[in-house]
Amino acid sequence: MVVSVFLEAARRRPVPRTPVWFMRQAGRYMAEYRAIRSRHSLLEICARPELAAEVTLQPVERLGVDAAILFSDILLPVVPMGLDLEFAAGEGPVIRNPVKDAGDIARLRPVDVEESLASVLETVRLVRGALDGRTPLLGFAGAPFTLASYVVEGGASRSFVKVKRLLYGDPGSWHALLEKLARVIGDLLLAQVRAGAQALQVFDSWVGALSPEDYRSYVLPHSRALFERLASAGVPTIHFGVGTATLLELLREAGGDVIGVDWRIPLDAAWERVGHDRAIQGNLDPAALFAPREELERRVRVILDRAGGRPGHIFNLGHGILPETPVESVRAVVDLVHAHGSGP
Ligand code: CP3
Repeated sequence: MVVSVFLEAARRRPVPRTPVWFMRQAGRYMAEYRAIRSRHSLLEICARPELAAEVTLQPVERLGVDAAILFSDILLPVVPMGLDLEFAAGEGPVIRNPVKDAGDIARLRPVDVEESLASVLETVRLVRGALDGRTPLLGFAGAPFTLASYVVEGGASRSFVKVKRLLYGDPGSWHALLEKLARVIGDLLLAQVRAGAQALQVFDSWVGALSPEDYRSYVLPHSRALFERLASAGVPTIHFGVGTATLLELLREAGGDVIGVDWRIPLDAAWERVGHDRAIQGNLDPAALFAPREELERRVRVILDRAGGRPGHIFNLGHGILPETPVESVRAVVDLVHAHGSGP
């Protein structure tokens, strides 16, 4: 088994070079993905382990990233809970029967993840087998808040009015919903580790919509309970959110060996706030991949300089790769990060 710079950095151990991978590294910007996607829907790919495994491996082969991330979606667990999920073209995810009140929350079904999400776990096993220890495999799930935001809003939202109406108006029901979601999320993540996932990322993508006070009251207890449960798995955990510059101390308090940050805060400032006793992941603006090569490289170097060679930096974007991104730019970032600090 080769020592993984990704797993070592997640544990803040010194590594010969900074590890790099990308959120949404498998996706539409890659011709290999589009070829499969032209024949199968997103949900079909997720439901067929041989396809999901193939897509998971595409960026590992094409880009030489230091981690593979399971190809799946954070929304899959809501289907066995009883929600009708669709990915409508141009609309993103849509839930036709969103949760509105205490009655809807009570009706959400408990999930046996080994049974209902068997295809996700089979993908983990297939990918682990194919990677054969060369590149570590990252499992993932949505955080309780971000999953709740889709379940309540019925899709993407800008203002999160339905979410806030529920959590301000009926906090008891809100907490009941987050507890139910956190249970399934925790079960799924632990099952991914049993199937072979070597690290876990929890995506709280939309949590930046909350003030620190609201995060502390309505979200932190559930995210903390989740991370406490994950600690038993013995693999490094990454806690990621967008727009979290004012929440970083609280994300740290909730848990995660690594805190993932976006580009709206300089990496060194973010690391100060998180504390140097945690690792940090980030934080190139995904739009920088559209900049001229020299400007892109300058921005990559700025981030590496801000990390300052301190153990515990994992290079990534501040959010997922955008669909029109030039593959050569992504590849250039991998090469530049790999060349940096690797010595003569
Ligand atoms: O390569 C990887 O990162 C692994 C695969 C992955 C997908 N979704 C596949 C996918 C991961 C890690 C996710 C997580 C996910 N899904 C998140 C958290 C990360 C984030 O971006 O904040 C969220 C919020 C979702 C929900 C979701 N799924 C949205 C909002 C969308 C539509 C957005 C879009 O770009 O169209 C999806 C669809 C989705 N999930 C795609 C992919 C590759 C889009 C591509 C397609 O339709 O083929």
